[in-house]
Amino acid sequence: MASTEGNKLWGGRFVGDTDPIMEKFNASIAYDQRMWDADIRGSKAYVKGLEKAKLVTTDEMNQILQGLDQISEEWSKGVFVIKPGDEDIHTANERRLKELIGAPAGKLHTGRSRNDQVVTDMMLWLRDAISTLTENALQLVSTMVERAAAEIDVLFPGYTHMQRAQPIRWSHWILSHAVALSRDVERLQEIKKRVNVLPLGSGAIAGTPLDIDRELLRQELAFDGISLNSMDATGQRDSVVEFLFWASLCLTHLSKMAEDLMLYSTKEFSFITLSDAYSTGSSLMPQKKNADSLELIRSKAGRVFGRCAGFMMTLKGLPSTYNKDLQEDKEAMFDCYDTVHAVLQVTNGVMSTLQINQSVMEAALSPDMLATDLAYYLVRKGMPFREAHGVSGKAVFTAESKNVTLNQLTVEDLSAVSPLFESDVSSVWDYRSSVEQYSAPGGTAKSSVAAQVEYLRTWLKKQAQ
Ligand code: ARG
Repeated sequence: MASTEGNKLWGGRFVGDTDPIMEKFNASIAYDQRMWDADIRGSKAYVKGLEKAKLVTTDEMNQILQGLDQISEEWSKGVFVIKPGDEDIHTANERRLKELIGAPAGKLHTGRSRNDQVVTDMMLWLRDAISTLTENALQLVSTMVERAAAEIDVLFPGYTHMQRAQPIRWSHWILSHAVALSRDVERLQEIKKRVNVLPLGSGAIAGTPLDIDRELLRQELAFDGISLNSMDATGQRDSVVEFLFWASLCLTHLSKMAEDLMLYSTKEFSFITLSDAYSTGSSLMPQKKNADSLELIRSKAGRVFGRCAGFMMTLKGLPSTYNKDLQEDKEAMFDCYDTVHAVLQVTNGVMSTLQINQSVMEAALSPDMLATDLAYYLVRKGMPFREAHGVSGKAVFTAESKNVTLNQLTVEDLSAVSPLFESDVSSVWDYRSSVEQYSAPGGTAKSSVAAQVEYLRTWLKKQAQ
């Protein structure tokens, strides 16, 4: 077994070799290499800070910058060779820099610790990840809003407790999920504010004694602010946790939407038909078309929430500042990013290609769903709602005992329940005029749904700026 001790950044005080199993256990290069670009950007900024502090000469700085550019090219071309002893992305890049430019490479880590370096890399990476996810989420909201606009005239049953509740617009259902996603986008932007704080210059725990201009580092890396306390900066992973929670909530929203759609796509409902592009077949039953895309969307909430809970368990009870336990942050962050990134795109595909079966949706409406409107009819004639609710309930009972639908009750049947019922009660039995009553902001009337569409269109434009 070739010794890798000579390569180690921290090899000085060690005499014996690391157990190979420990070496593998300790290493994060297998996954943190994803941050190669952030690591190089961070180092390029840092060497400028070193030069300003006269800790490297301008010539040494230029050599380091050129070396880092070459390493960047190697990574982007996929030819960077990871060697034994490359414990993480930070050690790998520095080892390569030394191979390329020799002695000046040894000055790059002056006053820096992997403790401030790793969290700087992560915040740079997460900032980019947040931008991508924001775009993905906005695309999905946009698809849903335009679909809602195009299909605004379609009615179907709204459910509470999974029981038929009231007639609603299909667009109202779509927008209910789009609104949740718009909050997710706003929440992600809130998180970005706290991600966008520079930790570099915090050293291992105590800060830097070397006249490093942290304001220069901030500007170079385009952070909004500078961390206030070096112990906090190196030892906290709040932004990672916030991101994991964000992913959990966002996918919880999408799992709810997927579950609704799955139900709507069953033969029993037949409200929607999922595109073949997002369905799969059965290896045994030739007739099957399974909504696998929706099932996977639904499943992923569990996965990311597991990551969130798992990482919070890792954090619980840790002492202050950097502990190696924190290395667990990256797999959770990457996995949640990859998962949400995929889910948002697949959901966008599903939502832009599914077909609705308008006649089936509207045929599924039934007069009992207008029992609430029947109570409102009485309210409009002056009856207290609590009483009207009881009267309408009696009408439902009468219809059930006569084995007719609610709208088949005669005015005589109804006036036996309440003298306030007159012939104009027939106007209640119209699904379109029913939904039109719900015209207060947020309701399911056409004007109200159209206002939601307009609000979200404006909101989308604002997000794009
Ligand atoms: N790979 C490490 C991590 O991901 C980098 C920081 C190591 N710091 C240290 N003091 N050992 O957390």
